[in-house]
Amino acid sequence: MHPSLITAPPYDIDALRGRIPLLKSMIPMNNCSQAPQTTATRAAAEFYLETWNQSGMDWDEWMDQVRRAKEEFATLIGASTDEIALFSSVSEATSALASALDFTGKRRKLVVSEAEFPTVGQVWLAQEKRGAQVQWAAVRDGAVDPCEYELHVDRETVLVSACHGYYLDGALQDIARLAALAHSHDALLFVDAYQTLGAVPVNVKTLDVDFLVSGNLKYLMGIPGVAFMYVRRELIESLHPTVTGWFGRENPFAFKVNELDWSENASRFDTGTPPIINLYVARAGLEIINEIGVANIRAWHEVLAHRLVEGGVERGLTVFGPTDVAHKTASTAFIVKDSPDVEIAMRAKGIIPSARGPVIRLAPHYYSTLADVDTALDVLASVTRKA
Ligand SMILES: Cc1ncc(COP(=O)(O)O)c(C=O)c1O
Repeated sequence: MHPSLITAPPYDIDALRGRIPLLKSMIPMNNCSQAPQTTATRAAAEFYLETWNQSGMDWDEWMDQVRRAKEEFATLIGASTDEIALFSSVSEATSALASALDFTGKRRKLVVSEAEFPTVGQVWLAQEKRGAQVQWAAVRDGAVDPCEYELHVDRETVLVSACHGYYLDGALQDIARLAALAHSHDALLFVDAYQTLGAVPVNVKTLDVDFLVSGNLKYLMGIPGVAFMYVRRELIESLHPTVTGWFGRENPFAFKVNELDWSENASRFDTGTPPIINLYVARAGLEIINEIGVANIRAWHEVLAHRLVEGGVERGLTVFGPTDVAHKTASTAFIVKDSPDVEIAMRAKGIIPSARGPVIRLAPHYYSTLADVDTALDVLASVTRKA
C-alpha cells in the first residue's frame, strides 16, 4: 500500500508512547542523534545502581548482562553472539579493526565513502601512517552512487568502508551490491549501520558484509558508551588487533601478564572492563526494538518519511538528499540558514530537531505520530520564515 494511505503503525503505538515520559512535554524528532528515554531503559540503569548498592559488586550478573546485550544485538542483525565484539564507541571499534589489518603488502587501498561519519573517515586516514592509501567514493546530491566505488575498488583494495545510512540526510546505500563489488576483488566490506539499526531491517548474512558497527543512542534507544561490531565468523581467527586488552583473551580471568592468547570468537576485539551500566541500558533499548520488530518499525517510518518530504515541500521547505522514501531512512534533512539557531528556536516551541551543518534533521521513530510530524514541520516552517 502507498505510504500516504496508511494512518497507523502495525503495533500498539499508544502503549509504547506511554513509556516515553518526554512525550508529555516535547516532541522528540532527533532520533538520528539521541533517542528519548523510556521507562525500560531508565529501569535498566536503576537496576544496575541497585545491584551495585545491594551487593557491593555482582560481577557474575554484570558479565551476564554483557552476554545478553551482545545476544540482543546479534538477534537484531541476524548474527550469532560469538560474532559480536564490544566497544565504547564506533570510533574505537573502527580503530581496533584497522589495527588488525595489514597495509604493508600489495593490497593497501581503503575505498571510503564521503558519506561516512567523519570519525570513520578519520580512522581510515590515520592508517596512511601504516602504509594505507585512502581513496574516496564521492557524495553527489546527498548520496553515493555505487558507480563511485566501482571507480576505485580493485585487486589492491583491502577494504571498502560504507555507511548504511548517511548521517546528514538518511540516504541509504545498497550494501548487498557493495558487498558483491568488494568480494569480487577479494576485498572486505565494513559497514557503519549506526544510522539504520532499529530503523531499517539488517541481516548481515543476507547482505554478506564482513564487519558491521553501530553505537546505541540513535534508533536503538540507548545511551553513549556502548558500541558493537559484528565480525564474520570465518574472518575472526585471521585477525589480531593491536588495540587490545585483557577482555580480548581466551580467559580474561586467567591473569597471565606475559601471555597473549586470542579469544576464538569476536570477543578477541574486546579490550578492557566493559561499560556495564551503559550495557544495561543498551540491552533494554535493543529489547524494545527487537520486540516491536524492525520490519514493523520500517513500515511506519516509510509513512512518516513520506509525510515529512511531502509536508516539507508543501510548506516551502527545501529537502536535502533523496526524497524517495525507499532510498532513505525516516530522517529527513531540510536546508536552513544557521541550523544551531533554528534548533534552539524549535526547542523553545516544544520540538527537538537535530541541527547538523547546513541542515535541520527531523528524525521520528516508532512512537511518532503523523500529528507529531505535522507539528514539527509547522514549527520549522514558522521559525525559518522569521529568520
Ligand atoms: C553513522 C555514524 N557513525 C558514527 C557516529 C559516531 O560514533 P562514535 O561517537 O560512537 O564514535 C555517528 C554519530 O554519532 C554516526 O551517525
